[in-house]
Amino acid sequence: MSRNLLIFCIAVFLVGTIITLTINSVESQSDMVQRGKYLVDTVGACGHCHTPRAGAEYNMDMYLAGHPANAPYPRYNFSMMQQGIFVLTSPQMSAFSGPFGTSFASNLTPDKETGLGEWTEKMFVDAMRTGHHQGDKSNRKIFPPMPTKHYGEMNDEDLKAIWAYLRTVKPVKNEVSPPLNQRGRPY
Ligand code: HEC
Repeated sequence: MSRNLLIFCIAVFLVGTIITLTINSVESQSDMVQRGKYLVDTVGACGHCHTPRAGAEYNMDMYLAGHPANAPYPRYNFSMMQQGIFVLTSPQMSAFSGPFGTSFASNLTPDKETGLGEWTEKMFVDAMRTGHHQGDKSNRKIFPPMPTKHYGEMNDEDLKAIWAYLRTVKPVKNEVSPPLNQRGRPY
């Protein structure tokens, strides 16, 4: 009888421990997402370029979905340099043209075909750290004005929190153009 009681007590203890650990890990996951949201929406200001504008306001249906497919974009030419012009932007403030060519803010939502749905956490962290497309050093550099030089200085915990949050935003199907060279062709 007392042996059974002992087994019962151990079982209750183990189940209690498992429940506590599960709750803690769910909580720390949601803390991480909250921190990520804070970094994206405040200090990181990712939407400044990645959420297109409709007039003066952000188009929240396109939250972090990048430059809208088929929206017009400006084309820089070098004669503008003499007029003191260095970067042009589209009315959505999500496409940029300068001496580097033309770049389009990427779709950061988890849409599988057009966003970061197929990316891994490692690809994201490495892209932010190395400044190379998809975090692969053999790929092209990520174009201006994406501030990888600054974001790359964030610690692992913050970059992982941003990634955790980006996984939770609404997926939006929006095929963003790759960057273009001066002749308007993909690099
Ligand atoms: C000043 C504008 C700007 C801001 C602010 C900005 N980005 Fe970007 N981002 C861009 C542009 C433009 C591109 C496309 C560059 C390219 O195609 O090479 C880009 C591309 C990316 C990519 C894709 C990189 C790749 O491998 O192709 C990721 C991921 C990304 N940004 C994440 C972020 C996150 C997260 C934040 C906020 C912490 C952020 N960006 C803030 C302009 C910006």
